[in-house]
Amino acid sequence: MGYKDQIDLLKLPRHVAIIMDGNGRWAKGKGKLRVFGHHNGVLSVRDVVEGSCEIGLEYLTLYTFSSENWNRPKLEVMAIMELLVSTIPKEIETFMKNNVRLNAIGELSMLPPKCHKELINVINKTSVNNGLTLTLALSYSSRREIVQAAKAIALKVQEGRLAIDDIDEEIFESNLYTGNMPDPELLIRTSGEFRISNYLLWQIAYAELYFTNKLWPDFRREDFFEAIADYQKRERRFGLISEQVN
Ligand code: IPE
Ligand code: IPE
Ligand code: MG
Repeated sequence: MGYKDQIDLLKLPRHVAIIMDGNGRWAKGKGKLRVFGHHNGVLSVRDVVEGSCEIGLEYLTLYTFSSENWNRPKLEVMAIMELLVSTIPKEIETFMKNNVRLNAIGELSMLPPKCHKELINVINKTSVNNGLTLTLALSYSSRREIVQAAKAIALKVQEGRLAIDDIDEEIFESNLYTGNMPDPELLIRTSGEFRISNYLLWQIAYAELYFTNKLWPDFRREDFFEAIADYQKRERRFGLISEQVN
């Protein structure tokens, strides 16, 4: 029995977030340049996106490039940006076929103009779809996201459009990039690292964390289904005791 058969489709998480890590080590292990790992990582993205459509997931959010990643060697950064430019437009057909709506979060204006343009183009073209919402976190920093939310709220208060007493978790959340999405119930990180690396800090307050040693280019839909099946075995208590939950 495959892991897909172990998944209860009636109890799917609505939103799964992934930290796709380990491309560089994967390539190095094969005696290749790091970029080779990023290229192969794209195949995993494709497979996991298709797997998400297969089970009817609503939201998949992929950590694609962090604000900190800009500080990598220039050649690697350029190669990743070029990979995005060449990959994103190629996916339109599959997105349309699978009813996928592309979305992006992060400081998108930091992206090279060509990359930004391709991204917006595919986001616009797929905006008619209402199946999976696939969000790419690009030039993303969770702390910056939180700071910009605080600034947006402060501005509303300053302009008299919001009273301080009305600021609550809901208002705060609606000012994050993810304002219109449910919080991820499951966060997956590949490559055996046990950290969050500035990803969705607010949103994962109660997410179940799943870590695997697999490097991202080796991670395929079967591994994704395994993570979801594992998630479904857990008891989410939200501060209550077991007897209250059951
Ligand atoms: C993840 O793989 C992709 C990005 C961060 C862009 P890495 O490039 O971080 O690969 P490792 O962690 O060095 O192996
Ligand atoms: C996190 O991976 C960012 C992405 C997967 C895009 P990193 O490889 O940049 O994270 P650290 O530096 O090991 O924490
Ligand atoms: Mg890494």
